Parts: sequence; C-alpha cells; structure tokens
Amino acid sequence: MNTPKPRILVTRAIFQSVIDRLSEHFEVEPNPDDVLWDRAELLRRMQGKVGVFATGTERMDAELLAQCPDLKICANMTVGYNNFDLPAMSAAGVLGTNAPDVLTETTADFGFALLLATARRVTESEHFLRAGLWTRWSYDMFSGAEVHGSTLGIIGMGRIGQAIARRAAFGFGMRVIYHNRSRLDAATEAACKASYAGKQELLQSADHVMLVVPYSAASHHTIGAAELASMKPTAILINLARGGIVDDAALAQALRNRTIAAAGLDVYEGEPKVHPDLLTVPNVVLTPHIASATPGTRQAMADLAVDNLIGYLTQGKAVTPLNSEVLTPR
Ligand code: DGY
Repeated sequence: MNTPKPRILVTRAIFQSVIDRLSEHFEVEPNPDDVLWDRAELLRRMQGKVGVFATGTERMDAELLAQCPDLKICANMTVGYNNFDLPAMSAAGVLGTNAPDVLTETTADFGFALLLATARRVTESEHFLRAGLWTRWSYDMFSGAEVHGSTLGIIGMGRIGQAIARRAAFGFGMRVIYHNRSRLDAATEAACKASYAGKQELLQSADHVMLVVPYSAASHHTIGAAELASMKPTAILINLARGGIVDDAALAQALRNRTIAAAGLDVYEGEPKVHPDLLTVPNVVLTPHIASATPGTRQAMADLAVDNLIGYLTQGKAVTPLNSEVLTPR
C-alpha cells in the first residue's frame, strides 16, 4: 500500500508550475477559482495540511495555529510577512518563510514609476486628455516637480531601500538621505551614495519621501498628521511598503489642504479598500499593490515559496526561514 503524500494548501490562484512542482511531493489542494476564503473557511481547509502556500494576507496567529496541529510550515510568496505572528508560530513549532531578494529590483523600479508619475502628474494629465479637455498647449499646463537633482528621503533602508537609493543617486543625480532603525555601514552607504538622517531632519529637508519600511507595531503610522506637517509644502510622499505605515485619513486631509503637494500610493490601510477621501483628491496617484507585479518577478517569488515548502518538508531545510529556532530540534 502506498503511503499517502503529505497535504498542502495553496490559498490563492497561482502559476500552474507551482501546483505541478508541489504535486511531485505532496497532495495539493489548490484554489484555481481564486475564491477569497474567510478565516473560518481557511481554517477548515487547513485541517490535515502540513504546509500552506500563502500570499501574505492569511493571518497565522495563536488562535488559528492551535486548531491546526498538523501544520509545519507556512510559506509566503511575499517579502512582507506581517500576516505572521512569528512568536506564536515558533511556540506552535510552525516555520514561517518569506520571499526576499527576488523582487528587490522590480519593486525599486516601481518606486520610481510612482515618484515620476506623481511628480510629473502623469495620471492627472492623462485623465484630462481622455476627458477631451485638452484644447491647446500652455506654458504652465500640468507643471510638476523636478525629480532629477532633488533630495530623496528614504525611510527604511533594507534591500529595496538601497536599490531605490542607487537608482536615485546614479540614475537621477539626486541627493539621497535615509532613515533606518540602524545606520548602514560606511561601505553600504558609499555604494548607495546615501547619508543617514534623523527622521525629523529627513522629513524637513527631503523634496520627496519614499517609504519602504516593513510593517510592524513599531512602524504603524510612521507618517501621520504631525509628520506630514513637518514636510515641505512642495513635498511628495510615496508609499510602496505596507498599508498602515501611513495614516491614510491624515494623508487625504494633508493632500486636500496642500500641506504636502502630492502622494503616490501602492498600499493602503485595510486594502483592498481605499480611504474614500483619497479617491476624491486629485493630487494622488493610486495603484493596487502592484510594485512587484511582473511575470518574471512574481514567478520567482512563487518559486521561492515552493522551494521553501519542498526543502523544509522533504529535507528539513528552508531557503529563507524567518523563525529559524523552529529548525533546531528542542
Ligand atoms: C511583498 O512581497 O511583500 C509585496 O508587497 C507583494 O507584492
């Protein structure tokens, strides 16, 4: 009699190659219709599963883990892992993995897509044109902000922050200042041509502020009304990190009052819902969490999650473990 294969849950629709590779080792329950399961449904489907292929929104906390005794690993295909309660996962002996590195350059490109679109009013002017309102050229029509030669302030100087800094310094001739929990070593600062600044100093002196800090309780509302008031009235704010890092209600108000000039956002508090006031202000560019969305990058992210599942469940080794203490037998 054949021993049954360990069972894996894939929570969302994903590349067929993911299902095929996982099926070589496991019995896979996929979600080809991409149904958005609520928590009760997710819990029901997790019963008897040893691994979960997740997309970064499935909350893994003590309450859920207590009801999933067979679970050994949850592999996010995202670099962000704020859906994981890591201490609870470690206590339950469940490994969490994420997908760093493979999306760094693509996400940094998108930071510039948002910055350029916002500074040069690309979407606002396109809507004007499509509405048939363009009747003549004029010297000040959709006059925007300079990007080249300006000062970029980056909050969060991990891999993506550094990739943005390199583009800014070497591609656009910008002066780059950054704020981070810990200061980078001198060689890394030199490679990014970036200098360290306190948060307040950065907010006051940057022409454009880009947020790439991971979400945690400590980074919740890193930018709120007080921080927006500290920024230049000509400043542009870009958030491509996570919803909740910016107080979206305060931002909408600051945009309406022109406390700052404009914002470019890829992530939102409570997404996919977007604060209604952000939808009515003209000086914001809004995209639906697509910073890493190219086929090659999304494939690489998914492949890394698959590598983690196969590696851990077949050989006890994960490529990008987050709570490595689970790997050491107690
Ligand atoms: C990530 O990987 O965390 C991104 O936000 C998803 O594209």
